[in-house]
Amino acid sequence: MKKTSQHGEWSSRLAFVLAASGSAVGLGNIWKFPYITGENGGGAFVLVYLVCILVIGIPIMMAEIMLGRRGRQSPVNTMRDLAKEAGGSRFWSLLGWLGVVAGFLILSYYSVIAGWAMAYVVRVGSGVFDGVTADGVSSIFGQFVADPEKLLAWHSLFMILTMLVVARGVKGLERTVKFLMPALLMILILLVVYAMDQGSFQQAVSFLFEADFSKITSDGILTAMGHAFFTLSLGMGAIMVYGAYLPSNISIGSTTVIIALADTAVALLAGLAIFPIVFANGLEPGSGPGLIFQTLPIAFGHMAFGSIFGTLFFVLLFFAAWTSSISLIEPAVAWLVENKNMSRMRACIWSGLVTWFVGIGTVLSFNIAADLTLFGKTFFDILDYLTANIMLPLCGICIAIFAGWVMSKEATSDELNLKSPLLHTSWLFLVKFVCPLAVVIVFLKAISVI
Ligand code: TRP
Repeated sequence: MKKTSQHGEWSSRLAFVLAASGSAVGLGNIWKFPYITGENGGGAFVLVYLVCILVIGIPIMMAEIMLGRRGRQSPVNTMRDLAKEAGGSRFWSLLGWLGVVAGFLILSYYSVIAGWAMAYVVRVGSGVFDGVTADGVSSIFGQFVADPEKLLAWHSLFMILTMLVVARGVKGLERTVKFLMPALLMILILLVVYAMDQGSFQQAVSFLFEADFSKITSDGILTAMGHAFFTLSLGMGAIMVYGAYLPSNISIGSTTVIIALADTAVALLAGLAIFPIVFANGLEPGSGPGLIFQTLPIAFGHMAFGSIFGTLFFVLLFFAAWTSSISLIEPAVAWLVENKNMSRMRACIWSGLVTWFVGIGTVLSFNIAADLTLFGKTFFDILDYLTANIMLPLCGICIAIFAGWVMSKEATSDELNLKSPLLHTSWLFLVKFVCPLAVVIVFLKAISVI
């Protein structure tokens, strides 16, 4: 008994790969990965992150896509139906809910940062950074985030653009990502070449790939694991809802590997573009969320045709963020359409308004409310920590447990349809034992219980 989705299907495997990579590749790769790597001391952190992608990220991504395709609805309803089918508790649909909440919270700050990228399109394009020193670039950034009205305006614009695409269904997106993702990759490679030539490339390579485990803390390990979920868009139903629109004949295993590889490649390239500039200009690798906004403009300011490439880069960064933000809100919108009988348009307006409102908190946390902290964390820090380091891994293990323990082996092997039984057994072993245990151990370590 195969179901079909009321929201439509992707037209091909390529369309799904592009949409899912569009969701995975975003601010997480280019903005977040470099700055958290800088904050956590480099190599050892990168290694832990790569291990997490391989051992936790890939198996859970397969599980999420599989659940989505089997349920063919919004994550809340998919979890409810699949639990019923497998004779599990109806509380499993709470998992879908937790995902919807996580999506709102992430998008609320994601949109603010995407707004920065948009603002930088205008700045770099107008030549503000031409020939500017590292200090100059930092102070331009500082003045920008100190202005709540500007941040709010860009945040609002980004939310409107996101909701416009979601309102029209995800079809239009397919076509856009097809051009954008390769273009982004090309500009990134160009930046790496610039960094090789002009920056302290060797120092950056050592920083990124030489693991010094004395530099990593248990909180750093939690951040690396949380980021593996964040960057692959796992643990909140985004990939699940994309899986719901996946035609039945497409192989989930190989498709997942392609998406994870593309995502990891973009993150590492971003690191190789940014750190050589950081070191060559004596900047601080651990300077936080402003890192790319304080380093890349230096490169563009000194490059031939820098303002053109720079503009293009931030345009592409904005597009990468756009294709990701859509997947953050799609589970909520799909649920409103399915259960509240709303039109897609109305569903978008409501969910967009809620997200926009929560986003104001993040806007203010960079200026007026920067001193309003809890455990030394601002509103933005708390949202980021709570979602990426706690909610996503928590939902992630629940997804693994559901796929490994609640669903029957027949159901999972029918849906995944892997090439060999050995592959299926290995996957089952990972989702049944390795993923849940690894996440629990990292959690316990971070709260210093072990
Ligand atoms: N993966 C995206 C990035 O790296 C962000 C994102 C999109 C996301 N959808 C998600 C994160 C779902 C967690 C869950 O920028």
